[in-house]
Amino acid sequence: MKNIIYDDGVFLLNTKNTSYCFKVNDYLHLEHVHYGNRIEINDVDALTLKRSIAYGDSVLYEQGSQYCLDATCLEYGNVGRGDFKEDSILTNINIADFKFEDYEIVDGDVDPANLPNAYGADETLKVTLIDINLQLDLYYGLFYETDVITRRVVVTNVSNNSIHLNKVMSMCLDLTQDDLMLLDFTGAWSNEVNKNEKKIQTGTYVVSSNTGFSSNRTNPGFIIKKGHTDEFHGEAWGFNLIYSGSHYSSINKNDKGIVRINSGINYINFDYELNKDDSFYTPVVVLTYSDGGLNELSHHFHDFINENIVRGTYKKKERPILINSWEAYMFDYNKRKLLALANKAKDLGIELFVLDDGWFSTRNDDTSGLGDYNVNKKKLPGGIKALSNKIHELDMKFGLWVEPEAINPDSDLYRAHPDWAIEDNEYKTLYERNELLLDLTKSEVRDYIVENINKLIEDNNIDYIKWDMNRQLIGVSGKYDYEYIKGLYEVLDRIFKDKDVLFESCSSGGNRFDLGMLCYSPQIWSSDDTDAIERIKIQKNLSYLYPLSTMGAHVSASPSTAVLRKTPLNTRFNVACFGDLGYELDLNNLSSLEINEIKKQVEFYKQHRQTFQYGKFYRVESSDNKESFEVKLDETIVGKFRKLMNSSVGFDTLKVIDLKDGMYDITSRPFSINIETFGHLINFVLPFKVNTEGLLVKEVSKYKGLDSKQEHYVASSNALKQGIKLNNLYISSGYNEDVRLPLDFGSELYLIKEKKDNE
Ligand code: GLA
Repeated sequence: MKNIIYDDGVFLLNTKNTSYCFKVNDYLHLEHVHYGNRIEINDVDALTLKRSIAYGDSVLYEQGSQYCLDATCLEYGNVGRGDFKEDSILTNINIADFKFEDYEIVDGDVDPANLPNAYGADETLKVTLIDINLQLDLYYGLFYETDVITRRVVVTNVSNNSIHLNKVMSMCLDLTQDDLMLLDFTGAWSNEVNKNEKKIQTGTYVVSSNTGFSSNRTNPGFIIKKGHTDEFHGEAWGFNLIYSGSHYSSINKNDKGIVRINSGINYINFDYELNKDDSFYTPVVVLTYSDGGLNELSHHFHDFINENIVRGTYKKKERPILINSWEAYMFDYNKRKLLALANKAKDLGIELFVLDDGWFSTRNDDTSGLGDYNVNKKKLPGGIKALSNKIHELDMKFGLWVEPEAINPDSDLYRAHPDWAIEDNEYKTLYERNELLLDLTKSEVRDYIVENINKLIEDNNIDYIKWDMNRQLIGVSGKYDYEYIKGLYEVLDRIFKDKDVLFESCSSGGNRFDLGMLCYSPQIWSSDDTDAIERIKIQKNLSYLYPLSTMGAHVSASPSTAVLRKTPLNTRFNVACFGDLGYELDLNNLSSLEINEIKKQVEFYKQHRQTFQYGKFYRVESSDNKESFEVKLDETIVGKFRKLMNSSVGFDTLKVIDLKDGMYDITSRPFSINIETFGHLINFVLPFKVNTEGLLVKEVSKYKGLDSKQEHYVASSNALKQGIKLNNLYISSGYNEDVRLPLDFGSELYLIKEKKDNE
């Protein structure tokens, strides 16, 4: 059954639960009609904006008619024709009037450019619009099961002169709904993805980055929702770009109440010369819609990314649990230390050892060495190969950190090829983390990177690469920015296309968390902030746009390096397990109690890894002090997180949603708490008195903790939906083993399994 239908000038694109509709109107303009729930083709007249009367302040498209582009929803903005909504395209000509010319519907994907794209479209529609000077080919990919439509534009110069493209958006969408809100995700290094909600009033809202990359400042993904839409109810439209460079999206509400959404590459400072017959290819934008609230909207994104963006060996494959050397040792390590860490990790069941920064050249801090690939023999006699062999002998996988796009001026590469670095010769050079970027628009630079990384991987039997990038691109034109990103994609394609290597992308944490990178790297390091409480926010807000399988999430030491907060080991794991679990701390610096806890954590994660990485993820409850996450496959797991305790706290519930009718067994994951947490209170339970600050307590606490009792409840799906009552939390009037002990920054994991008939 065809899901892209063309009937008498009307185009209807149906996904499982959504319809996208536009038509060729009497003036040959492509008029947008509907993006929302499923409709019938016969609904077109009812859904089209009426033109019974002309607005007094309008430029009429035809004398005597009531037709004016400002009061019309368009599939792509025209320029200088009386449409005062924000332009989708700008050139030196200042005028463009795109009229319908032709269309084509094909099965499967159509990919007209060498930019990363989704794959596995059921059908693709190409609509050609023609103007005196330009031809526009609008591409629509239909992904039926995941309720996604992709859009992109190819602009061709059909005039006899060269044309300067100054702006060209991947899509334009005119919505007519009122009471809309914009959700966007802004941040900074180590403070990624803060969710903002803005009421859309008349005027323009911009979601953009100008740092050369998709950026931690503003993620390219954003959501438009109705005012009352929450996690479980209401309409929402989601947008994201398959692009890693500077991006620009605008949400512009005009005086008639039409909300125009443009999305594409950042056009500020963009000047791309198109000669006769030349074409420009925009990146692809991903659109989805749901009337079932924000969780459902996120599920569309999650399924789409797992199915149609991530590719290669690790598509839908379980990701290994890793140990990373960075937060354990930073630059200060040698082979002996690394092997001790690997051995300990192996004992705990960890599967992949990752050697982070500091293994090459003179790199004992971040001032030198980037660009060079010669191993630091002082730290690693025998080279990477010897270490990799040892790790493989432990039956672990071996991974390595690289930062191939960057160069330190103090490097052999810079001394040999200073012109390979992006620097302005007239202005003073500005550094970020002591580094410059390499000029990826040069083919010899791309070859250098590809050859060196390929050699590293092949010579050393590398199973995993962490590809970092730690600066912004400045002082270049918008066109250069676009060419740089294309250069990067070429490099990534050449290196990773036919390899089994697991590629984790990183950019000072989450400075390049986008769909473009996910076309090459199945997972991305979410943030350098590994503090568990901060990570609840970061991973939760990433989940609006990206699935858990894409988020690198590590247990690190307490207090955290990010904010010096002390958090229980239990909570650090309970947060990191909602993602691709790793450990990033010195395992040889932990007590036996902590080591035993980690062993159990790793075991638990392995048992439920498929659920954590690929389950359906819900943001269930959220308040200033509490969060709860649910992830569900054949089994369901709920994580409950608390920030601060208060004395005499009220009752607490466990709410579980999306269960099929039936009875369920609910068990908590047991954990152990360091007895030092209880301070002088331990003297109330011990038969003798001890000095709570003394050596005895310190020593004992290394081996023995207070074990949480495993809670067990039985309840129906309906009761769980309402929220079942949990055992009371600790309050200051006493303690017994049924009391729950979540502490400040405490948390619990509950496993919910269907009860079998005979149980
Ligand atoms: C960046 C990354 C970190 C780590 C360091 C190493 O900050 O985000 O995870 O790899 O570089 O220098």
